[in-house]
Amino acid sequence: MPVLTRIRKPVEKEMADFEAYFNKTMRSEIPLLNIILNYILRRKGKQMRPLLVFLTARLNGVITEPTYVAATFIELLHTASLVHDDVVDEANERRGALSINALWNSKIAVLVGDYMLSKGMLISVEKNRFDMLEIVSEAVKSMSEGELLQLQKARKLNIREEDYFRIIISKTAALISACTACGARSVTDDPETIQLMKDFGENIGVAFQIRDDLLDYEGTGLTGKKGGNDIKEKKITLPLIYALEQSSGSKKRHILGILKNKKKNKAEINEVISFVSDYGGMEYAELKMNQYRDKALAILDSYPESEVKESLKEFVNYTTARNK
Ligand code: IPE
Ligand code: IPE
Ligand code: MG
Ligand code: MG
Repeated sequence: MPVLTRIRKPVEKEMADFEAYFNKTMRSEIPLLNIILNYILRRKGKQMRPLLVFLTARLNGVITEPTYVAATFIELLHTASLVHDDVVDEANERRGALSINALWNSKIAVLVGDYMLSKGMLISVEKNRFDMLEIVSEAVKSMSEGELLQLQKARKLNIREEDYFRIIISKTAALISACTACGARSVTDDPETIQLMKDFGENIGVAFQIRDDLLDYEGTGLTGKKGGNDIKEKKITLPLIYALEQSSGSKKRHILGILKNKKKNKAEINEVISFVSDYGGMEYAELKMNQYRDKALAILDSYPESEVKESLKEFVNYTTARNK
């Protein structure tokens, strides 16, 4: 059985209901918009965020309607952020197919992303769940800040490890911790539990993005995204930050020179990848990633054994072991 199918087991029914609800929200009266929403729906992602919402809700209580509200809102927002992200990153591939900006254009991608985001917000408002709206809106704000800080750093190529962590906490971990906070919030109002779950999600989120950044270097061909895109876009992620710190003088200048170059050929991108691997950048990033994974697992330790706890453990391990 594929690992994600196994992890989903305790909330299988909820995930199926969620998907039906999610698909229903992805509709519009505007034909062009409808065609694009359908295109997006046909290539669904791993749905790790809604899964995390349901699992953390179950871990802390009994799943309720607000759990569905949060799961749907968050997956809509996540999907919107990918559509926007591909514009920002000038990426032509997503989920094994052409991105919206590549198939239509950037103007359309920006507007479709906005549409999905507002649909998500409306669901919370319609159901009067302003608590969910607040948690997720905080994450949306963080994500924009993280993306902009990343762009600022890419322009100057002066990113340090602490900047990298600040960026990924904002652009990725904020939404994943919103998943776990909303999951908990939908079943309890105990502030300590909600905070604990928020920390749990933040650790998963950091590990999740480090794995994503490693995948960009590994170029396994399984992600449905083009490998090497981060180098192309001057996005300096943890493996490269570490390798640059370990190197000096002419070598460092040479690599930075390649990064600065707007038009990089395949050989140059491969040269940066080999540099990172020669200087131990991948191993270092893996080490850091596993520290965050272990922090997340330690939080789970405070819960009694259960089927859902086992699933969450597997979820955390999958986050750092996944190949897509
Ligand atoms: C990709 O997220 C964006 C990042 C935060 C790295 P996912 O890997 O969860 O994307 P899908 O939804 O499965 O395509
Ligand atoms: C995560 O960063 C993007 C979002 C938080 C939307 P990436 O730019 O690395 O994500 P991918 O690799 O394109 O999915
Ligand atoms: Mg991207
Ligand atoms: Mg990436």
